[in-house]
Amino acid sequence: MADPMREEAFTLRDGRTVLLRPGRMDDAESTMRNANRIGREQVYLMLEEVPNLKEEQRWLSGFDGERNVLFVAVADGEVVGAADCHAGPFPKDRHVGGIGIAIQDGWREAGLGRRMMERVLEWMRSRSFAKAELAVFATNHRACRLYESLGFVQEGVRRWHVRIRGEFVDEVLMGLWLGPEPASAAR
Ligand SMILES: CC(C)(COP(=O)(O)OP(=O)(O)OC[C@H]1O[C@@H](n2cnc3c(N)ncnc32)[C@H](O)[C@@H]1OP(=O)(O)O)[C@@H](O)C(=O)NCCC(=O)NCCS
Repeated sequence: MADPMREEAFTLRDGRTVLLRPGRMDDAESTMRNANRIGREQVYLMLEEVPNLKEEQRWLSGFDGERNVLFVAVADGEVVGAADCHAGPFPKDRHVGGIGIAIQDGWREAGLGRRMMERVLEWMRSRSFAKAELAVFATNHRACRLYESLGFVQEGVRRWHVRIRGEFVDEVLMGLWLGPEPASAAR
């Protein structure tokens, strides 16, 4: 089985090459630029701006590759996309990993999002997570399609949970079961 923490170069549909690898502390300035560029668009992410480099470094220092992971896509030395997963913090939800992904404008719709999501899910399976979860704004059809195509199903809707440029928008909660069917499941 390949190491899910490997570095791997691959070619996007448009012919450009990116390197996919785990994030590092010395990526901080670049991951912050990536997050801020996407955050400033205001339509895809809850976060709109990382307040400062120290905060980004604090966030980066939380990834240990075992319970939490960050993968970055790098082109010409600059991070152009990031995907992370955080394990549930409690005994009751430690089998669940929450995923976030953000790819810069100019690097979208060329196959990168799918590759990054597949790598996060590969890592989750290797670390024996039983469930992946994420939240997506209902207006983000591109992201919804990607998640559905990977097998995620809608688990809930937080009605009018976010306000995007003055408009109230639903937040959709999605999940993907990765483990064996539980012998018993209570509802
Ligand atoms: C959402 C996002 C991760 C998708 O990644 P991407 O690199 O743009 O998408 P890909 O080229 O890998 O396409 C993956 C799938 O997305 C869907 N998709 C892509 N472009 C689409 C479009 N214009 N309309 C609808 N669905 C689309 C398709 O299902 C596609 O499947 P395919 O592999 O069969 O083509 C990326 O666009 C992104 O980060 N956007 C900004 C931030 C964001 O929305 N983050 C997610 C918050 S929940």
